[in-house]
Formats: sequence, structure tokens, C-alpha cells
Amino acid sequence: MKQDSSHRIVEGLTRWISGAAPGARLPSTRSLVAEYGASPVTVQKALRSLAVQGLVESRPGVGSFVRSLRDVRPHDYSWQTNALGAGRSRSVQMASALRPARPGTIDLSLGFPDPQLLPERLIRAAFTRAARTRSFLAGPSPAGMPELRAWFAAELAASVPAGLAAPSAEDVIILPGSQSGLSAAFRSLAGPGEPLIMESPTYWGAILAAAQANVEIVPIPSSSAGPDPMDVERAFAQTGARAFYAQPTYANPTGAQWSRGLGQKILEVVRKHRAFLIEDDWACDFSIDSEPRPLAADDDLGHVVYLRSLSKSVSPAVRVAGVVARGPVRDRLLHAAQSESIYVSGMLQAVALDVVTQPAWKTHLRNLNEQLGSRRDLLLASLGEHAPELQVETRPRGGLNLWACLPDGTDLGRFIREAEMEGVSVVLGDELFPAEPVAPCIRLTYAGRDPGNYPQAARIMGKVLQQHLAP
Ligand SMILES: Cc1ncc(COP(=O)(O)O)c(C=O)c1O
Repeated sequence: MKQDSSHRIVEGLTRWISGAAPGARLPSTRSLVAEYGASPVTVQKALRSLAVQGLVESRPGVGSFVRSLRDVRPHDYSWQTNALGAGRSRSVQMASALRPARPGTIDLSLGFPDPQLLPERLIRAAFTRAARTRSFLAGPSPAGMPELRAWFAAELAASVPAGLAAPSAEDVIILPGSQSGLSAAFRSLAGPGEPLIMESPTYWGAILAAAQANVEIVPIPSSSAGPDPMDVERAFAQTGARAFYAQPTYANPTGAQWSRGLGQKILEVVRKHRAFLIEDDWACDFSIDSEPRPLAADDDLGHVVYLRSLSKSVSPAVRVAGVVARGPVRDRLLHAAQSESIYVSGMLQAVALDVVTQPAWKTHLRNLNEQLGSRRDLLLASLGEHAPELQVETRPRGGLNLWACLPDGTDLGRFIREAEMEGVSVVLGDELFPAEPVAPCIRLTYAGRDPGNYPQAARIMGKVLQQHLAP
């Protein structure tokens, strides 16, 4: 995405301010116009941005000045230590999957797709149309827009085999992203101190939501083939858990796709224990060389709470997801979701619906899947050539990530820091294990910006690893 020139001015002036004395006067608008070859309006925009950041203050008719030190004296917040007590350690961390990489580094960590992979033209057109329909004035719709709910139901219904009842729009709740669905599901189906079974490793946001809900996580190992049904059986039997959170399709981070047989076995275990499977289908739009098939399609008895997100495939700025839940659990989830955000913006729902119902949406998905395939293969080939010590567990058949393990005994924290210093940012695998990590692993996203840099990223990681392994 192209940055406007006010960004350039903000960056330049921020550097200038860091070396200037408090109270120093900034160059005049006229000289900034000349220096940056920008219009006065652009220079004013940059100055306003610096003022909002608290770096400068402007005195009308006089000029702009570096804010004086007395405005930035350190505050004493120590009283909050007593007030807050010890935190839940997980909940205070910000996962590296969300942390923006340092400027100039090759970013293999951010878990959101490159804007080039998003359907920009469809989104623009959808916003224009939505503005014409006055959906920007839409009032609350507690479970969501009926047409969008019908779309989510129909998407799942397309995979339901003959003989089973398909879900309907009434079974769907629209949410502001599936993260809030996870939080609502964990609070509704487990609750404080109660067990919730989870694959390990898994999505960091699920670990965070479970920690916030004070749920007792029961981790079971999960590999590139998914979990062992015996482990799931044992976990239900030993803990009396009522729910299992899992990602059967292109799991984040392992890339696992459960076989149909494995899915059936796990559904049997869930049914036997009269429990729920919380199926997080976050990546069904990111298939590469397999057909995604939701496990929820094989359940019409209300055992599967199915979450499907559009916030990565449509746009992170159009955060919309749907949860399909049948029976009384649907109302539990609705109330839990409403307690956090009463309803989802009608404008965003209208835009999301518009995008996914355009004929060009399917074409977009086909292109996207091809591009993801090329990116995945380029990253895999680059690692194979330049960093063969990194063991990639599986060639994922969809999703956005590779899961790679480093040789036993590698100091993972040091590897990540050194790789970052050399210019590559990756996700620390330790953050993705709900219990102690069993191996030093990293997650590498092949959906970020500038895929042309993958060979260079692999060279850097290979070099850093060699230094670690050197006797
Ligand atoms: C596995 C998984 N589930 C859920 C989410 C949250 O999705 P949303 O952006 O819809 O809240 C993410 C986002 O990264 C994810 O990776």
C-alpha cells in the first residue's frame, strides 16, 4: 500500500525532533514545503499528526514547537500495582503475531494477509453501495443482518450430507470477528475454573481468551495430522470437560488438516461425552491444494459450535464473523456475545455481505488460493536451500503459516532476537503452547508483504542458525 507524503514528513520530523531541544521551533511551513516537495496542505496534515502524538505544539500565527519536557514528565502509576494485584501472565502479553515488525525487517510474523491479497476493488465498491443504502445509519440487529446470517448458514449447508438437517439463518449469530466468538464460547461452555480441552500448540488468541475467562485449559498434543482421539477421550473422561476447542482445517500454527476419519472419531468422542466441539474454521477461504470441509456439516444435534471468520479473507478492517450453533447453546452464546458488544456495525455487515455475494468473490478466492500456493512453495524452497536445519513439520494444504522446529537445544529466544537484528521477524512458538513448549519452534507466515524477500529471509535464518550450531 502506498503511503502518502505526509507520512514521509512525519518520519523526517520525528527524527529531527528526537535531536532537538524542548521548545525548539520547527522549520516553517514554507521551508518544509520546499524541503519535501509537498503541498502546504500535506505539511499541515503532518504537523497535525505530530501534535496528536504529543510531539509538537502549535501556536497559531507563531509556528510549531517541540513540546517542552514538563509536559512529558514521567507519571507515577505505582499505586496500580496494589490495586490490580498479580495479573494472569498470558493476558498481559502481546503476542508477536500481532506486534508490528520493526520497519525495514522482513515480516514473517504478522498473522494478517498482505493488502495485495485482499479484494480491494470489491471492498471499495461495497462501501460505495452501502453508503447509498443508508446502512451507515442502521440500528441494532441483535443476532445480525438476516441476509448475512442466511449466507453463513448456506455456506455451511453446502457441505451437509444427504440425510442430515442443514443449519438455517436462525442458527447463526453475527459477531465482530471470531475472536469474540471464542471468548463468548469459552465463557458459555466452560467458565471460571472449569476445564476446556485445547490442542497444543494452538492459536495464541484462544489461549488469551481462555485465560481472560479464567478457564482451566486442558492441553492435548496436536501434530501436523491433528490430535489423537485417545487423548481427546482421556481428557474428557479425566476432567469432565464440556467442550473441546479445535481447528480441524489448516490449523494455526501447525497447518494440520484432519482427515475425514479423524474428524468422525473425534465427533464420536464429543457425542459420547455429551459435550461440544468449538470448531474454529478461520482459514476455510485459504485452501491451496485440498478441499476444506467443515466438521460441523456432519453434526445436526448441536454438538458443534462452528465459527467462521471473514476478517482475514475480506479485510481486517471489515471485522465480521458468523457462529453457527444449534439448540439452547445458541442463546447462551448470543447473550455472552451481547454482554461484550451488543451488536455488529450494520455498515460492516452490509459491506461483508456485498463482497461475498459478488460473482467476482469466487474468482478472487481462486486467485488468492493460487497466490498462497506460490508463496508457500517459495518459502518452503527457500528454507530448504538456505536453512535446511529448520524442520518444517508439514507442507500445509491451506492456511497462512508454516510451522518449523529448530534443532533440540537451540536457544529460541536468542535465535528470534538475532534473526530480528539481522532483519527477519518470526513468531516465537512458545507463545502458542497452552502448556510448556515441547520443542523450540517458530511460526512463519507466507501471507505477509514482499514475498520476493523469502529467499533473503531464509538466508538470514540459516546464517543465524549456523552461528548457534557452531561448536
Ligand atoms: C485460528 C484463529 N482463530 C480466530 C482468529 C480471530 O479471527 P478474527 O479476526 O475473526 O477475530 C484468528 C486470527 O488470527 C486465528 O488465527
